[in-house]
Amino acid sequence: MILLPTSILSLVASASLVSASSRHETLYKDVVIVGGGASGAYAAVRLRDDYGKSIALIEKQDILGGMVDSYVDPDTKIPYDFGVKSFIDAGNAKGFFDRFNIPLGNASVVTVTTDYIDFTTGQVVQYDLPPFEDQMAAMAKFLAIVEPWETLMQPGYDHFPLPSAIPADLLLPYGEFITKHGLEAAIPLIYPTTGLGLGNMARETTMFVLQAFGASMARAFVGKQAQFVPASGRNQDLYDAIAADLADDVLYSSTVLASRRSKAGVSLTVRNHRTGQISQIHARRLLLAIEPTADNMAPFDLDRNERSTLGKFTYTNEYTGLVNNPDFVSGMSYFNVPASAAPDNYLVLPDPSFTARIDYIGGDNLFRVTVVGDESLDANGAKKLVQKDFATLLKAGRLQAATNGSRALNWVDFSAHGPMHARVSVKDVRDGFFQKLTALQGGRSTWWTGGAFSVNFQTTLWEYDELILPGILKGLD
Ligand SMILES: Cc1cc2nc3c(=O)[nH]c(=O)nc-3n(C[C@H](O)[C@H](O)[C@H](O)COP(=O)(O)OP(=O)(O)OC[C@H]3O[C@@H](n4cnc5c(N)ncnc54)[C@H](O)[C@@H]3O)c2cc1C
Ligand SMILES: *[C@@H]1O[C@H](CO)[C@@H](O)[C@H](O)[C@H]1NC(C)=O
Ligand SMILES: *[C@@H]1O[C@H](CO)[C@@H](O)[C@H](O)[C@H]1NC(C)=O
Repeated sequence: MILLPTSILSLVASASLVSASSRHETLYKDVVIVGGGASGAYAAVRLRDDYGKSIALIEKQDILGGMVDSYVDPDTKIPYDFGVKSFIDAGNAKGFFDRFNIPLGNASVVTVTTDYIDFTTGQVVQYDLPPFEDQMAAMAKFLAIVEPWETLMQPGYDHFPLPSAIPADLLLPYGEFITKHGLEAAIPLIYPTTGLGLGNMARETTMFVLQAFGASMARAFVGKQAQFVPASGRNQDLYDAIAADLADDVLYSSTVLASRRSKAGVSLTVRNHRTGQISQIHARRLLLAIEPTADNMAPFDLDRNERSTLGKFTYTNEYTGLVNNPDFVSGMSYFNVPASAAPDNYLVLPDPSFTARIDYIGGDNLFRVTVVGDESLDANGAKKLVQKDFATLLKAGRLQAATNGSRALNWVDFSAHGPMHARVSVKDVRDGFFQKLTALQGGRSTWWTGGAFSVNFQTTLWEYDELILPGILKGLD
């Protein structure tokens, strides 16, 4: 039996009146979840299949999986992942694949030759990497320094220290932190993998760079923590299996138009933008598994405290895609560094928005493009930026000009990951931001998960879901 306040009951009544004549449906659920990516899809499976709660999962795209992007070559049927690359073996991650009978394997490695190029001019940067042993030694040292802080920020911020007890290093600009500890030789491993997601990580606050590349990534590099992918080499297999399992409990191509949230439950008006169908969903709990940006939160009747807390987050915008112009040389990686990084200024990095790298990944001359944008860079802007850089590289003679004249990039696939790596200012951290953030949990029947409340790693987000599930389930019997 679901108890709803009278205001919601009257809304239900009016919705059911029109449902006969127009495309309306009314659903009653224990938990409604918004966002079918890493955190939302996982929570949906756990709540419904393991805890026996009724759920509805609202997803704006027509598939689950969020930042996973698996392109399958139509001729060879070989999959190429150009979003999420691999899953870190954390918590019960393997068990979660097992329950869907998805065998695991290692991510395939494509060996490339890297050209360091200043993409603003197309000129080669004479960039000398430290010997590999030095990079790995610096990584081991980095791990020893950052590992003790891991549980302060992961899987969530629940144990984040009070302002007076925050380790000073966490609030230094990352460049200063690296120099202070003599960790420069680890940067050529940290930046190109996940550090670049923050934009110019050298200027960002250390604790947020550690959320992008922290202890788990360092352990993976030194061989202390495993990573895996589905044996098929297609990461989307996991989310397709979840989709098959959840079946009709997912509302695809749908977004929330309006909401009412109270202590007694929530009521969401949801629209399918393909069919126009409106669903009125009444649920006892809401789990928000999307980035809490102003745009995403607009339909959610935020109160003043929620709005001012979530409004402090800033983001970078990430885009990835696949291109296959014959001008790119098979086996090459084109990597963007400013000219002033030569010969070994590893902390000199480009400022967003920029194309970070263009890497050969195999197949029919497929190259994966990674773009890191400031808050204003949209998908069109990202494509334009890569087009401009392509022209610059061609003109400077960095590519094999397969034909003459101006050329259009051939996008085989493209994905807007949008705002990620949520962070706040040092002043906000010192003002107790993370205590205010975690205090939002459970208010007005609403719970929060996803990158901003946890960290941008698939399996750590699942661990964070595990942390908040007891609170969601409390009182739901
Ligand atoms: C290029 C790239 C590579 C990555 N590689 C790895 C990796 O190798 N390993 C790893 O562990 N992590 C990786 N990550 C990070 C990881 O994928 C993310 O941290 C994770 O997906 C975040 O999970 P989430 O649930 O917060 O959001 P998402 O997974 O992004 O899910 C959000 C979902 O909500 C939907 N949505 C958004 N807004 C709305 C709305 N208003 N209404 C309804 N639905 C909405 C989206 O379509 C999406 O499906 C990578 C990220 C990127 C961008
Ligand atoms: C990955 O490769 C290592 C080393 O060959 C092996 O021990 C491990 O079992 C592999 N992992 C998976 C998931 O297959
Ligand atoms: C490009 O133009 C130059 C000079 O006109 C010519 O020599 C070259 O063959 C052309 N290349 C291609 C691939 O058409």
